[in-house]
Amino acid sequence: MTGKISEPAQLTYLTDLTVRQFNVLHSPKNNGSARTDSAKYLAELGVEIINRRQPIQFLPNSNESVHRWSPYVQGFSASFVQRTLDFHRHEYESPVVLDPFAGSGTVIVQAKLNDMAAYGVELNPLLHFVAETKINSWATDPIRFLNVARHLAVRKPTKAPGFLKSEKHFTPGALGNLEKLKGGIDSFDPASDADKHIKDLILLAFASILIDCSNLKRTPCLGYSRSKNVEDDAPFILFSKKIEEIAEDLQMLHSKYTHSIEHPAEVHLANSMEFEHSHTYDLVITSPPYMNGLDYVINYKIEMGWLGFAVSHRQLKRVKDDMVVCDNVSKGLIRNFASAAGRYTNPWIEEIKEGIYANIQQRGSYRRKDMPEIVHKYFDDMYKVMQKVFVALKPRGRIILVIGDSLIADTYLPTDLIIARMGQEMGLSIERIEKARDRHSGQIRSYKLRETIVTLRKE
Ligand SMILES: C[S@@+](CC[C@H](N)C(=O)[O-])C[C@H]1O[C@@H](n2cnc3c(N)ncnc32)[C@H](O)[C@@H]1O
Repeated sequence: MTGKISEPAQLTYLTDLTVRQFNVLHSPKNNGSARTDSAKYLAELGVEIINRRQPIQFLPNSNESVHRWSPYVQGFSASFVQRTLDFHRHEYESPVVLDPFAGSGTVIVQAKLNDMAAYGVELNPLLHFVAETKINSWATDPIRFLNVARHLAVRKPTKAPGFLKSEKHFTPGALGNLEKLKGGIDSFDPASDADKHIKDLILLAFASILIDCSNLKRTPCLGYSRSKNVEDDAPFILFSKKIEEIAEDLQMLHSKYTHSIEHPAEVHLANSMEFEHSHTYDLVITSPPYMNGLDYVINYKIEMGWLGFAVSHRQLKRVKDDMVVCDNVSKGLIRNFASAAGRYTNPWIEEIKEGIYANIQQRGSYRRKDMPEIVHKYFDDMYKVMQKVFVALKPRGRIILVIGDSLIADTYLPTDLIIARMGQEMGLSIERIEKARDRHSGQIRSYKLRETIVTLRKE
């Protein structure tokens, strides 16, 4: 920040800070746990949560073939998907798999490696591109890919996207080299379908190194890193490493997975709240956005800008507004929702909304005063997705969701149990709810939240 803060502004800032700190310090939820706060909901559902600790996050994917082509903090692990496929595969003749929140395509890639037909839906155009490239470029000749990627001619550097503050995101040296690299990629004009796949893979490699070449970090939200020291030639070094990895994996696919290469797999660029599925599914394996969680557009704005999937902040906002809601959503969207007719609700949601509202009143200050409506919209959005998926689910089919709960203004939100209840209301049975790990999130770090795997079955 430059210049001095005016005295009234300074006072407001200090008062706000103190109010927030006071509220955190005096929260009745300090040292509390989701376990205690879930008891009444579990009793009503008539289920128990099974403890089944397991690695579930994306991190190990950075060493897994194909999955490692692009880093993605919010994904789940390929090994979790594999365990789930192995556990259920024998119950279906040739299982058809869906992920309505495909993200970087972990489910679809893993299902394809298992010779299963797999489909996905993803609303962020960058992530759709990532997932599609990861599943539909397997026939690419690794030698030709390496040849093209290593000999890109730099006729003219491509300027960094105008609407991003690239001079803040990168050092001048790294930025100049990224512009040269992008210029080289843009000068490759694919003359065939095979070359189009090569170009997509090269663009994927470029997108996947951008954050590593910047002063930014994603842990999991995008922010500046104080400790990073990026060398000017990082773009060339990291890009070379990435294309070597991709070529190595293509080679592996050609030697061990020839039968999988042409297996059908597709990710649709669409909104899962509205998407009419043309297939029916045996296994829906997915991880929806978490309530109060991440902004899947702002977090990927750098890659979206450089790859041309967004040319303005307004365009980013439009994509964000269509997504399952997060607490970074525009106030206007929530105002419109609050007066909309036909919204999904149930007594739990109403009680939770009242709790959040009362606690915000009592606290006197909160990040978003419209939080009760944001929470409501989240479940309304999820209901719409569940309805579309339910219709496309085959009899005996399963929906398996990895989901985390939340604590909002001292009110516990059992997201997993609310979604399980939603499923029950639609006619699905709750087969299992397993706790995969404890987690801590939000202001009250001492409160123990959880990440669960909810399995619903169509009878
Ligand atoms: C938790 S991530 C899924 C990650 C995925 N399991 C993986 O391993 O890559 C949730 C995804 O849902 C997407 N999403 C949010 N709202 C959506 C909507 N209405 N329709 C389709 N996708 C949506 C987000 O862009 C994000 O990629």
